[in-house]
Amino acid sequence: MKVILITGGAGFIGSNFIRFFLRRNKNFIIVNMDSLNHATNLENVKDLEKSPRYHFVKGSITNHELVNYVIKRHRPDYIINFASESNFDNCASNPLSFTQTHMLGTQTLLESARYFWGKHKFQGNLFIQASINEVYGSTPANDVFFSEDAPLLPDNPFSASKAGADMLVKSYASAYGFPAIITRCCPTYGPYQHIGNFVPKCIINALSDKPVPVFEKKVREWIYVLDHCIALIRVLFYGKTGEIYNISSGNEISDFDMAKKILELLGKPKEAIERIDDSSLQNTRCILNSYKLKNNLNWSTKFKLEDGLRDTILWYKQNPDRWKDIEL
Ligand SMILES: NC(=O)c1ccc[n+]([C@@H]2O[C@H](COP(=O)([O-])OP(=O)(O)OC[C@H]3O[C@@H](n4cnc5c(N)ncnc54)[C@H](O)[C@@H]3O)[C@@H](O)[C@H]2O)c1
Repeated sequence: MKVILITGGAGFIGSNFIRFFLRRNKNFIIVNMDSLNHATNLENVKDLEKSPRYHFVKGSITNHELVNYVIKRHRPDYIINFASESNFDNCASNPLSFTQTHMLGTQTLLESARYFWGKHKFQGNLFIQASINEVYGSTPANDVFFSEDAPLLPDNPFSASKAGADMLVKSYASAYGFPAIITRCCPTYGPYQHIGNFVPKCIINALSDKPVPVFEKKVREWIYVLDHCIALIRVLFYGKTGEIYNISSGNEISDFDMAKKILELLGKPKEAIERIDDSSLQNTRCILNSYKLKNNLNWSTKFKLEDGLRDTILWYKQNPDRWKDIEL
């Protein structure tokens, strides 16, 4: 049996990844280490507790002793770092927590893995840093796409701390030959996402017949969570150590049109959209080029935007206990 240590696995992408991966890969054990911050919910992984191939450890990746204990005890072959502070509106009030988890936490994991994995010269090991498109900043023009060699120009403290973590991972690879890969993905939507995020917020407000607030100028490239997970699995099995892979879908759409699509799928009037004036904001477009992943690792998206949105809407409809009484 191989062992993967997943950090932040009780969150949105991590919990989808664990569920999807364990079902398809019978020779793997997953250890999920998550501090369960205020934006996450252990219910996300409740169904996995029955599996003898799943173990949960509550704790922070900033806790060096605990990270050492987990790596020594479970001897992971691979680590995928999803642990992250959330960046939706009401979480952005404590930027220091971004730096602690993203930079200090990532370096704590790197140091511990370097120590234990270094004993057998990193043979059979891989560390994946699940990073984000925002580290590139915003594209200056509509026909520009960021490829992996674009400079990192984050324009807020959240993205800056993510970029700092990426640089730490890269520096461990170049300074110590540490086996690491960085993935940078565009905004992701799907079941199990916290309702403070844009897509669930649109769905829940529409289901509750409340206005759906939308920034007028914002344009994003959306990917369904299972497409993101499948890309990570290809990177895990076939990725080249030391590389960076962008993950993107080509589904570039304004927040306004995305909200309209969600309302249409729910049979609700588009008049529910409440436009927020964002004329003072700079260009907020951040679109990736993922040719490298497509060409070298033979990955492509499987889910059309409408199909992914239908699945997501269905999940929120079937799980009202996950959002009914939560005040945003
Ligand atoms: N959601 C997106 O659109 C998106 C897109 C691209 C990349 N990413 C990246 O993927 C990763 C996962 O994102 P997500 O949307 O699932 O986030 P999430 O907020 O849903 O999950 C993050 C998890 O990390 C845990 N966590 C926070 N601090 C921790 C710490 N110090 N130690 C251990 N666990 C900690 C939280 O409790 C939570 O369960 C992040 O690195 C994120 O930047 C997200």
